[in-house]
Amino acid sequence: MSKYITTPIYYVNGEAHIGHAYTTFIADTMVRYEKLKGEDTYFLTGTDEHGEKIEESAKKSGKSTQEFTDEMSATFKNLWDDFEICYDKFIKTTDEDHKIGVQKAFEVMYAKGDIYKGFYEGNYCISCETFFPETQLTDGEFCPDCGRTTSIVKEESYFFKLSKYEDRLLKHYEENPDFILPRSRANEVINFVKGGLRDLSVTRTSFAWGVKMPESLNDDKHVMYVWLDALMNYVTALGYGKDDALMNYWPATTHFVGKDILRFHAIYWPAFLMSLDLALPAHIGAHGWWTRDGEKMSKSKGNVVSPKEVADAYGVENLRYFMLREVPFGQDGDFSQRAFIDRINSELSNDLGNLLNRIIGMSGKYSDFEIDSVDVEKYHTKELDTMNEALSNLDGFMQNMQTHRYLEELWKLFAIGNKAIEEHAPWVKIKEGKKDEAFATVALVANILAKASIMLNPIMPKTTNIIADALNFTIDNASYEELVVGKKLLKLFNIKKVPPLFPRIEEPLMEEAPKAMPDDKPNDEMKEELATKKEKREEDNLIEIGQFFETSLKVGVVVEAEEVPKSKKLLKLQVDLGEDTLRQVVAGIKEFYSAESLINTQVCVVTNLKPAKLMGMMSEGMLLAAKDEDGLCLVRPEKPKKVGTPIG
Ligand code: MSP
Repeated sequence: MSKYITTPIYYVNGEAHIGHAYTTFIADTMVRYEKLKGEDTYFLTGTDEHGEKIEESAKKSGKSTQEFTDEMSATFKNLWDDFEICYDKFIKTTDEDHKIGVQKAFEVMYAKGDIYKGFYEGNYCISCETFFPETQLTDGEFCPDCGRTTSIVKEESYFFKLSKYEDRLLKHYEENPDFILPRSRANEVINFVKGGLRDLSVTRTSFAWGVKMPESLNDDKHVMYVWLDALMNYVTALGYGKDDALMNYWPATTHFVGKDILRFHAIYWPAFLMSLDLALPAHIGAHGWWTRDGEKMSKSKGNVVSPKEVADAYGVENLRYFMLREVPFGQDGDFSQRAFIDRINSELSNDLGNLLNRIIGMSGKYSDFEIDSVDVEKYHTKELDTMNEALSNLDGFMQNMQTHRYLEELWKLFAIGNKAIEEHAPWVKIKEGKKDEAFATVALVANILAKASIMLNPIMPKTTNIIADALNFTIDNASYEELVVGKKLLKLFNIKKVPPLFPRIEEPLMEEAPKAMPDDKPNDEMKEELATKKEKREEDNLIEIGQFFETSLKVGVVVEAEEVPKSKKLLKLQVDLGEDTLRQVVAGIKEFYSAESLINTQVCVVTNLKPAKLMGMMSEGMLLAAKDEDGLCLVRPEKPKKVGTPIG
């Protein structure tokens, strides 16, 4: 049976970061693994280019929307090409064929009675492009996904009868416990469905940058909801709605997604497929999120890890290895250069690289680089058995996407090899005249490296091909069948010298995550002085509680934000404090937050300060913020609160 593996299609309003690279690496690894096993496998990735947010980003860039999306989409495609990601198709949702497929699906659902026209009035989160029922809003007002304020939007809309599929979806989850992987993520989906599904609004009239309605409906006011459009990519890429040329690959084996978009893939997508009478994918594999040095990555913090930068510094295959080894699939992971360097030095350089160097060195010295497996079984049955056991465990780990366990198990092979060299000390055997034994140990290690490099190939394709070349064989399905499945040993060959594959790394090769204030960072002496002064002031200046309450502090929501021209530090904000009019607050936070990132976020405002003029603009409040040598962050309520809520 053929396999079909997909990544999410990436939004084009930002550049690729390591989170995107991670999904792409796992999918690419899985595809290479299946191909190694001889499976006919199709691999899809691409970009998601429609919707209000992208329309807005294009406007800001001053380019036409299509020009903008084409350029941004190319940055993803070029990156994956640089990384030699082995995708078969890179889909863009602005591709004509894709649009035709989405329209076709809409017509099919409509003809079936699963789509009807209605009128929507609901709480809409612009940022998530999603309507939420009242019951799901946090504190009756805020988006349950991103915490931003929702607004009431009323528009004519077509609806998909999601509610009709509730029971069938629940039955599917029950009968297919591996539909959502890891299984631990299934409950959140099941509970959501059990909580009751409302019909889904699947068109919009509030913006134009989307797939048009099918002509047969004669209703060009509407464009498709971006998630209907986006999810359909998994079948339009195979020719759905056009020529069905590749529909033999359907249903998908695995859609890899991040945990934040699991709901769309595990609820909406199967319901759409049921409506279209198409089979459901076998697995939705949901992975966790990556942080950097323990902190959430964000553009405003300037700490987003660029996969290109890491690959330029350390090599893309080392990055693949690190990411797939570091986190259990499904859990969140942290990127830190320290952890990265430690893994390269100890696991790649010490365990693997040294092993190869040792047998090249020994065979050069003792046998003129000739390696013969003839006596391996005679002297090393114990090692061969342990190795074969570890090899036979690998498939289960990969099928469950547990790449960290897969690699851990694979590394047992290098441990066997290193231990065999220590225990059997070929240099002693040579001195004792036991050449056969010495050669057998070297050949055992060569075989270990050969089998391990076949199984490591899906994760580190180029590096393992170099190892295989040194060991005089090619990594492909035939060698997998012979050396791994068939447990055969390498034929007589001459080993080739290779340059060190994993030179040790002593110092970080990339700049650390930017510290926000390099210029005005106080030195140690200044810090001490400031601390003493502060302590003194605090002793002298104790206040009564009443004095504290003279300060009026309230929760507000930033409604508008813009940069103050010619100012390095200032942003001008309009803040909703639940009063009749918005308050203008001019805040010195531009170095730490972009104007855009503040919109619809909550802030804590000192509301009874005398208004002050900053660069000619009136400021009617002050934001609470905390600043240390690592930068500044706004102080916000832990959970969204109603605007105007007093703080104290
Ligand atoms: N366009 C939608 C997907 C549509 S699929 C039919 C989308 N795009 S995205 O570009 O915002 O996100 C793509 C993927 O990146 C998602 O799976 C998301 O979970 C993942 N990540 C975004 N930030 C991430 C991290 N910090 N860490 C790991 N993955 C993260 O959603």
